[in-house]
Amino acid sequence: MDDILKRRSIRRFVDRDVSAEAVTKILKAAMAAPSAGNQQPWQFIVVRDPASRKKVSECSAYAHSAAEAPVAIVVCGDLSREKHQGYWMQDCAAAVENMLIEVTSQGLGAVWLGVFPRQDRVDYLRKYFNLPENIVPFAVIPVGYPAQELPPADRYDENRVHYERW
Ligand SMILES: Cc1cc2nc3c(=O)[nH]c(=O)nc-3n(C[C@H](O)[C@H](O)[C@H](O)COP(=O)(O)O)c2cc1C
Repeated sequence: MDDILKRRSIRRFVDRDVSAEAVTKILKAAMAAPSAGNQQPWQFIVVRDPASRKKVSECSAYAHSAAEAPVAIVVCGDLSREKHQGYWMQDCAAAVENMLIEVTSQGLGAVWLGVFPRQDRVDYLRKYFNLPENIVPFAVIPVGYPAQELPPADRYDENRVHYERW
């Protein structure tokens, strides 16, 4: 629970690299996510090259942090792996949340940059990475050591909870 509440969107990073081992653990967390029928319809592009991260950051007006973090992970849906149609985005969202929690537990910071379903962002990244037709960019996750500290989020609101009936 601690890491879940501690997880906040980190958009500024110090000048310190993130190890390959740390990235592998983040991807391991992603791939441990639940998915419909265990279809695991995800693929990941790990981007370290600064010029490439700059390009990725230009996928939307709200993605500048991809240029600033030492690594940006592009989470993609792989439609060719869909056994249960229409669930791939929920599966990828579960993978992203797992990534963010693992990032937090490692003392790193990250932010979920939305791509899908904004068609202009999807098209931009599809073109930049020359993605095959079955691969849909879903989100970009910049990861680095935080240059900002945010308090844990406690958004529990009992008015949103309904017992037995509405
Ligand atoms: C689907 C989704 C898309 C998001 N897209 C962006 C984005 O494009 N740029 C950004 O800076 N933050 C983005 N965020 C982060 C949210 O702004 C953030 O999670 C929210 O304000 C709550 O703050 P917290 O993450 O610090 O708890 C996105 C979050 C989600 C779940």
